[in-house]
Amino acid sequence: MARSQELSIGFVGAGNLARSLASGLVAGGLAAEHIWVTNRTRGEALDVFRRMGCSVANDLETVCRAANTIFLLFKPKDAESALERLKPLIDDRRLVISCLAGVPLSYIESSLGPGRRVVRAMPNTSSTIRASATTVATGRWASPEDLQRASDLLEAVGEVWTIPEEWMDAATAVAGSGPAYVYVFLEAMVAVATELGLPAEIAWGLVTQTTAGAVQLARTSQETPAVLRQRVSSPGGTTVAALEILEEEHFAQILSRAIRRATERSRELGQQWR
Ligand SMILES: NC(=O)c1ccc[n+]([C@@H]2O[C@H](COP(=O)([O-])OP(=O)(O)OC[C@H]3O[C@@H](n4cnc5c(N)ncnc54)[C@H](OP(=O)(O)O)[C@@H]3O)[C@@H](O)[C@H]2O)c1
Repeated sequence: MARSQELSIGFVGAGNLARSLASGLVAGGLAAEHIWVTNRTRGEALDVFRRMGCSVANDLETVCRAANTIFLLFKPKDAESALERLKPLIDDRRLVISCLAGVPLSYIESSLGPGRRVVRAMPNTSSTIRASATTVATGRWASPEDLQRASDLLEAVGEVWTIPEEWMDAATAVAGSGPAYVYVFLEAMVAVATELGLPAEIAWGLVTQTTAGAVQLARTSQETPAVLRQRVSSPGGTTVAALEILEEEHFAQILSRAIRRATERSRELGQQWR
């Protein structure tokens, strides 16, 4: 991460993602007082930032004056009104990092005005434990250094990949919505494990450790998932019997359909901002 003295960060929004980002940035070595935070209602949500030692502000003006990098951390439904208020406060010396799901760069750029340096980011909910799979895409007026700065900062809450914006819908379907598919998988495995007589606590432990272990092995092994799968599968054994059912029931195709539908939905939602 860039050194504290070079950076002052502004958060417009003090919700879930702002909390994760702040704790990740502070854990990563950024001085808490260099994080300036504001929200709309100025209520208790700001206390957690005060306790962390962040600089809490009563208005957007203070945050935008103090910070050279401004994170947009409000909901997409609030984008129009918030960007209208931000427009006079953000000049081309500031970098804007928009985390607004589905809101295209062109909308943010046209709302803030020509020359505004914007990077778009799509983290996922695992940001909370600093394990997000985040994608970033660079805007028309952002420099390679701006993109680097955004990536370095977002690494506070997980891993970051730079992609062209046209891939954002697919990345949203895979990584933004992805945790939900994994949770469905976990729920289904735990449910059948308990139906088969395993106590709930043991079922939960076996399922989560099996999933975490398989993912860890796949990430660290030189082998492809297909080879790792074959290693679990002895001819005539239990794994092969199970995999036959998954194939018969078109498990891979079902997942493919679901992710394609999410990509399409992301495109549809993005249309409203164009
Ligand atoms: N949570 C995630 O892991 C995640 C993942 C991917 C993308 N995102 C994106 O990140 C953004 C934030 O998500 P979230 O889950 O953190 O939302 P959240 O918990 O609902 O927080 C939204 C924050 O925005 C503030 N806000 C709204 N309008 C404002 C304005 N005009 N000026 C200043 N602050 C304003 C709200 O303040 P009040 O409470 O005072 O109204 C609140 O603090 C969203 O755009 C979402 O799409 C989040």
